[in-house]
Amino acid sequence: MTTTTAARPIDQDTSSAPLRVSVVGTGYLGATHAACMAELGFEVLGLDIDPAKVAALSRGELPFHEPGLPELLTKHVQSGRLRFTTSYAEVGAWADVHFIGVGTPQKPGETGADLRYVDAATRSLAEHITRDALIVGKSTVPVGTAERLATLIADTRAENNLPGAVELAWNPEFLREGYAVADTLCPDRLVVGVCSGHAEQVLRRVYAKSLAEHTPWIATDYATAELVKVAANAFLATKISFINAFSEITEAVGGDIGTLADAIGHDPRIGRRFLNAGVGFGGGCLPKDIRALQARVSELGLDRTMRFLAEMDDINLRRRDRVVDLAVQVLSADQGHPRRPANGGTGHTPDPVSVQVLNGAKVAMLGVTFKPDSDDVRDSPALDVANRLYTAGAEVAVYDPKGNANAAARFPRLGYVDTCEAALTGADLVILLTEWDQFKALDPAHVGSLVARRNIIDGRNVLDRRAWQAAGFTHAALGHRFDPGH
Ligand code: UDX
Repeated sequence: MTTTTAARPIDQDTSSAPLRVSVVGTGYLGATHAACMAELGFEVLGLDIDPAKVAALSRGELPFHEPGLPELLTKHVQSGRLRFTTSYAEVGAWADVHFIGVGTPQKPGETGADLRYVDAATRSLAEHITRDALIVGKSTVPVGTAERLATLIADTRAENNLPGAVELAWNPEFLREGYAVADTLCPDRLVVGVCSGHAEQVLRRVYAKSLAEHTPWIATDYATAELVKVAANAFLATKISFINAFSEITEAVGGDIGTLADAIGHDPRIGRRFLNAGVGFGGGCLPKDIRALQARVSELGLDRTMRFLAEMDDINLRRRDRVVDLAVQVLSADQGHPRRPANGGTGHTPDPVSVQVLNGAKVAMLGVTFKPDSDDVRDSPALDVANRLYTAGAEVAVYDPKGNANAAARFPRLGYVDTCEAALTGADLVILLTEWDQFKALDPAHVGSLVARRNIIDGRNVLDRRAWQAAGFTHAALGHRFDPGH
């Protein structure tokens, strides 16, 4: 493990002056962290290299949807406790603690994580800090990154002969979109990778409120802290793919995937959470994190260790194929020539008969974000399916309470409508792929009065099958055998 400065003994860290906090990167993670740090009472300076983002945030405008965050942003921008800047020199001269919350997306065309933003943020901080400070990485990174960055910081500062002792810690973030504020203010655990008692003490001051509430505190080395995050995400992805693999069985032989999940979930060793079968996981974290983990262990010569994650990824992506396949089956049955299930199918290139069935079919796509209470469409299963149906010739009307604009920026040729009713009107098939409350509460009779044909696919297992069937709908759901008679 690398230490960038001689650590000061804990007993010297007796300062009671309030810490000044900077947060580098103001995306989902950074903006949330900055506003929550202000809520905890710190003076906060958020930094982003995008001047438009900094200008918007300084006006109290959040460039993405996250429940509860606009209120915190407005409150603390108005109080002056939360400010934003594009200047590394400003944060470097000012803050005691610098959090790095920039993105680590998947490298284009590869499975590994793209670390250029984390590297650039760390280098810029190292070049501009002119006083004692702690840099704290929060971004999700491949194991070994913190140690490499600690050396980068030490070398950069030595080369430039800069004043002040600067140390690095790693403090992974476990927040979920949609619950980001609550997860940040009241985390279920705090993990810090440190290489000195001083760094731990500083972080204890940052998280004093959570510690007073007895939040579990895990102080460890860099590698463990980095691995905790990817291990948690790999486990969650595995849990979802596990139940979705059983969906493939219940779709083939019958059975109820929800009841199966409930029954195994009663075992406290298993637990019911993250066993909701459906179109699978997406978003900016789980998919790229399991791929980056495989890439990293391969680099370490441990190719076989995480091979099962490739299988989890595959199971997950097959769910999207299954929705396309179900759409073909439901529409074929409606047109009076039922098709046999494609048995997994590839879904990517629909066969000629599927194209024929889908061509010109009007499909109402309910939901396009990767999960509800978010406007995030990164790696969204719903958006992927909408695009595949469009490519196969379907007329797709997409409605999402928050995600249309982001989806349209990625796939401008899909049809986007402003209301649920507009999507449903004249539809031959309704497909629900993001479980917004608004969709869960839909009245089958009302929907029936709007659509051209009463066909619905529940891609999240949130609709009451009997109620929809009673209203005359052909109802198909992931994890359930499709019976064209109903
Ligand atoms: C995830 C982790 O939960 C969080 O701890 C980490 O910090 C970031 O990644 P997030 O991406 O916000 O958070 O979404 P999450 O709630 O985990 O859902 C991920 C995906 O899994 C969504 O597409 C969701 O629809 C899907 N999912 C979740 C299921 O398909 N079934 C489930 O039972 C649960």
